[in-house]
Amino acid sequence: MTASSSGMWSSRLIFILAAAGSAVGLGNIWRFPYVAGENGGGVFVLAYLLCICVIGLPIMIAEIVLGRAGKNSPIASMKIMARDSGANPAWQIIGWMGVVAGFMILSFYSVIAGWALAYFLKMIQGAFLGIDADSANRVFEDFISNPHRLVFWHTIFMAITIFITSRGVGQGLERAVKLLMPGLFLLLILLVIWAASSSGYFLKGISFLFSPKPEDFSGDSVFLAMGQAFFTLSLGMGAIMAYGAYLPKSAGIAGSALTIGVLDTLVALLSGMIIFPIVFANGLEPSAGPGLMFVSLPLAFGNMVAGQIFGALFFLLVSFAAVTSAISISEPAVAWLSEKGKFARSTSAYTIGFLAWLLGLGSAFSFNLMSGFTLLPEKSFFDSMDFLSNNVLLPFGGILISLFVGWRLKPEILLDQLPEISRFFLGLLIFSLRFIAPGAIFLVFAMSFLK
Ligand code: TRP
Repeated sequence: MTASSSGMWSSRLIFILAAAGSAVGLGNIWRFPYVAGENGGGVFVLAYLLCICVIGLPIMIAEIVLGRAGKNSPIASMKIMARDSGANPAWQIIGWMGVVAGFMILSFYSVIAGWALAYFLKMIQGAFLGIDADSANRVFEDFISNPHRLVFWHTIFMAITIFITSRGVGQGLERAVKLLMPGLFLLLILLVIWAASSSGYFLKGISFLFSPKPEDFSGDSVFLAMGQAFFTLSLGMGAIMAYGAYLPKSAGIAGSALTIGVLDTLVALLSGMIIFPIVFANGLEPSAGPGLMFVSLPLAFGNMVAGQIFGALFFLLVSFAAVTSAISISEPAVAWLSEKGKFARSTSAYTIGFLAWLLGLGSAFSFNLMSGFTLLPEKSFFDSMDFLSNNVLLPFGGILISLFVGWRLKPEILLDQLPEISRFFLGLLIFSLRFIAPGAIFLVFAMSFLK
């Protein structure tokens, strides 16, 4: 059974929406602002943008090529690609590592997305009307210190995600992104306009994001920026590869990748432009960590005209963005388990969802019951999952993907998948995949270990 039996995107535009739906998520709206805030802003953002262009885009093209040429789950596609190129079957490890990384990411992703769902409800109830910074902080602290609440919302989010995944590409994924993505963009634009016109700190927010201060520069910022680039573009674990398997042959890959990259970057920067002016206007710390979005935005919404409605809509849309990302995180594992008629699509989805849910309990409890527990040195369970997946597994997967496509993939396959690009760009792409992307990832790794 090939991917086409579980569905095909009905057009290139739908693929772009779905892949942008995968890329745009908590990574942009929640993680990007707080990681940038913790790492001094400008320098981090510069390193992040560089990583997107130099490492992210070539690898995204490589993943889509592998997916569309392999037409199966990432594990099976890599097997086929290695066989057809006369390469070592061990390259399948790319698919296997992706499934492992996917589990880890889905597990903590669902916990944080659950926070967004909970905040949607709090907003509707008017929990933040007229609130001040201290109280907004307290509401957040109270919330995450309650294990039952976190598990409850984690469960709800995982159930929604898995329900959509279980229905397959056409009925599930495609319908979801068509509905959710346009709404998300509209609301973001509205909020940026609002932040620009009302807070009085818009320029300060922008200058925090865009003016690099050399004294903040450390090997760490570059390392984190690279992890963020992989995470935000959904690269390195086969999610985009899995989506590429459902892409009709007529659609251009390079242009699609560029569009997805630009949309994703735009949403991250816009989120920063919404959040930082609020942070500065209210004397909050930009380095507040994972709670940044959950404190600054309720504070702003609680004190603006019609904030209750805008706030509810905002957290609803963050939840939507998280759903369209989470389904893509589960897709490689679900596609693999249901391929060749092993299990029904729904059985696979529920199994994967349950296992990820179980692992997610560790992250939910790391904010309360297990807050003293460290898995990696000085890192809670949640921080360890985040670090291992984003900063280790994804970049490592990225190195392997770029080396495979750059050096081992049969040139005919590459040419066949990228008929639209000129010789010059093809040469540039191959050069990036052979040397620049893997070299840059390697350098960043080395720098962070040698420091
Ligand atoms: N890119 C998504 C975000 O920014 C998260 C995500 C979806 C992801 N699929 C992925 C991250 C695959 C890594 C790998 O929120």
